[in-house]
Amino acid sequence: MSTYFITGAAGTIGSEVIHSLTAKGEKIIAASRTPEKTKDLFNNSVTAVHFDYENEKTYNSALNSDGIFVLGPPLNLELYELLEPFINYLQDNNYEGKIVYLSGNGMENLESLPFHKKMEEKFKNSTLNWNVVRPSFFMQNFANYERENILDRAILFSPAGEGKSSFVSSRDIGTSISALLLDKNKNKETHVLTGSKSYTHYDVAAILSDILEKKITYANPDEETYKKVLKDSGAPDFIAEYMIPVYGMIKNGSVENITTSIKDLTGSDPESLEDVLIRDFK
Ligand SMILES: NC(=O)c1ccc[n+]([C@@H]2O[C@H](COP(=O)([O-])OP(=O)(O)OC[C@H]3O[C@@H](n4cnc5c(N)ncnc54)[C@H](OP(=O)(O)O)[C@@H]3O)[C@@H](O)[C@H]2O)c1
Repeated sequence: MSTYFITGAAGTIGSEVIHSLTAKGEKIIAASRTPEKTKDLFNNSVTAVHFDYENEKTYNSALNSDGIFVLGPPLNLELYELLEPFINYLQDNNYEGKIVYLSGNGMENLESLPFHKKMEEKFKNSTLNWNVVRPSFFMQNFANYERENILDRAILFSPAGEGKSSFVSSRDIGTSISALLLDKNKNKETHVLTGSKSYTHYDVAAILSDILEKKITYANPDEETYKKVLKDSGAPDFIAEYMIPVYGMIKNGSVENITTSIKDLTGSDPESLEDVLIRDFK
């Protein structure tokens, strides 16, 4: 049995990594700024520690692990600056365990949001024992970020144009990361994690319409309309600054690629978008 230090422990991906590793009998140090909440979430089956990328004094329990999952919080334009001190700390302390970093499919070419690319380079230029996963858009984004639009307004409101995305399930991402942490032979590899099919947002609206038995419309907002609606709803300007280029990757076709990485890493086929949306919305 080994011990794994999991950041973003209470979040979408971190919690799936923890579920996958505990199912295999591994020990978990669950790292978050809210350890009490995290402890409850996992019914006391993990060691919950206070961890904040902004506070170096909270880094030391990572050194008591055989592997680390590094996840940066979303919607942060300064993500590289937030995470870099932790990576420096691991390197300065000659950390020898395995590290998996969560990047994003297509982000290696997204000049306007360079943080994941810079983080990948940081690992590649380090002496650390890293692997990188680049997942496509999460299938769970619809439940996590668009639930109110879908259920209350019967719309999908992302500026994704008519492009396709190879949506991937957070559960499959978690299982793939746990497989990478456990496999001693996998080092310095980058895996693009996708579902087995690509969909437009029109396709997603049609699937949701079937599940909810009511018409869900994809509004396909242009950038100006999207910005205005966010502003009118009180969202700070940086949200549009972040989301427009992210959804632009769907619009311009750079995240419709399909890989076999999930099957290769876990031995199982990826979950389908239909199954995940039924679980989240039925
Ligand atoms: N959504 C997508 O489609 C997609 C696709 C590809 C890649 N990604 C990447 O996935 C990442 C987000 O993953 P997610 O959806 O699992 O995130 P999430 O559910 O929002 O969880 C993020 C976690 O980060 C923790 N956190 C926030 N600030 C922190 C800090 N200063 N120090 C330590 N922990 C902190 C939060 O926990 P506490 O508040 O408890 O500390 C939270 O649990 C981003 O890097 C994003 O670029 C997303």
